[in-house]
Amino acid sequence: MDVISVIRTKRDRGELSDDQIDWVIDAYTRGAVADEQMSALAMAILLNGMNRREIARWTAAMIASGERMDFSSLSRPTADKHSTGGVGDKITLPLAPLVAACGAAVPQLSGRGLGHTGGTLDKLESVPGWRALLSNDEMLEVLDSTGAVICAAGDGLAPADKKLYALRDVTGTVEAIPLIASSIMSKKIAEGTGSLVLDVKAGSGAFMKTVEDARELASTMVGLGTDHGVRTVALITDMSTPLGLTAGNALEVRESVEVLAGGGPADVVELTLALAREMLDAAGVKDADPAKALADGSAMDVWRRMIAAQGGDPDAPLPTSKEQHVVTAAATGVLTRLDAYDIGVAAWRLGAGRARKEDPVQAAAGVELHAKPGDEIRAGQPLLTLHTDTPDRFAYALEAIGDSYDIAAPGTEHTPSPVVLE
Ligand code: URA
Repeated sequence: MDVISVIRTKRDRGELSDDQIDWVIDAYTRGAVADEQMSALAMAILLNGMNRREIARWTAAMIASGERMDFSSLSRPTADKHSTGGVGDKITLPLAPLVAACGAAVPQLSGRGLGHTGGTLDKLESVPGWRALLSNDEMLEVLDSTGAVICAAGDGLAPADKKLYALRDVTGTVEAIPLIASSIMSKKIAEGTGSLVLDVKAGSGAFMKTVEDARELASTMVGLGTDHGVRTVALITDMSTPLGLTAGNALEVRESVEVLAGGGPADVVELTLALAREMLDAAGVKDADPAKALADGSAMDVWRRMIAAQGGDPDAPLPTSKEQHVVTAAATGVLTRLDAYDIGVAAWRLGAGRARKEDPVQAAAGVELHAKPGDEIRAGQPLLTLHTDTPDRFAYALEAIGDSYDIAAPGTEHTPSPVVLE
């Protein structure tokens, strides 16, 4: 087998054979196929696509590139959730302890933020002492003792994807549905969860800008999970405006703790409960009431134990920003748009996100929202508060905010998009 013939097959809109796929993934993981060759193939896939069989085989080859975890020793059924990423998407933080409080075990391998979307591990690292890196044994121990664990994927899990994702990130080949679906699902299947709920985001702040693309990604991933024996379902949810009232690491932890305390913004509570019900259903846990577990403090108890089991202090004050800048509404009327992408870019520029994988993030940086689409506002009223430790970033963040919202005349009818679209 030679890599040039594999690249030519896809370049010329052909179908890759099972042997070609197995060979190229293995050879790339071993270093026998060079980055420039794999990036040519990734671009050919982005332009010419892959059919169902090719995507399934590509995913299987990426799973086979590393180890598979095994949670069969646990007494509870396992349920995991994956979000395709968005702005203010802190749902994993309240969701994992909530589902554990209702009787399932939640092994949540999470990632870091890149670009305008935040990452769960960056958020949790704003809790003093909390550790994202656990050995497989430690992960199992936390999962067994508390019912939930949120940690980084070890190097042994789908190493082909680690290498390929880093390459796609710098070659303009992230946005290919076959590559996104196989990347996400190879990690989730190798992780060994029994059931999986996918939160596929659609809108300006998401990878998938339209519901049609989100639907195609969702059905591809559900097919892959099902074929590998993982009970998989997907919700398509709105990412045209940020989730909740915060985007930024410590800001989002604070909001998640409010949800676990029985409060928090309505959209975050609604999506947390919708995903919890799907996860419990997929895991076969009957008669659990997630709304009750939020109200009676049992989800909060699991959160506290889970944070402490990973070295964190759930009672320690969260970092706060050194500098703030308030953006006021330019007119009186009804807020009809507050753009997720623009707010995500502003939070990123304030220091909440990173431009390169190795960059540090500021725990306290981000954007706080004082209104959501559908709200009546007055000219001069605070609309956003920008947070950072490095005030020279304000001007750069404000460039992203400039065009981020629309205010219609007072009394204009405006129905905000539902949180769960499909
Ligand atoms: N998340 C992943 O893990 N992989 C992708 O390709 C995109 C998002």
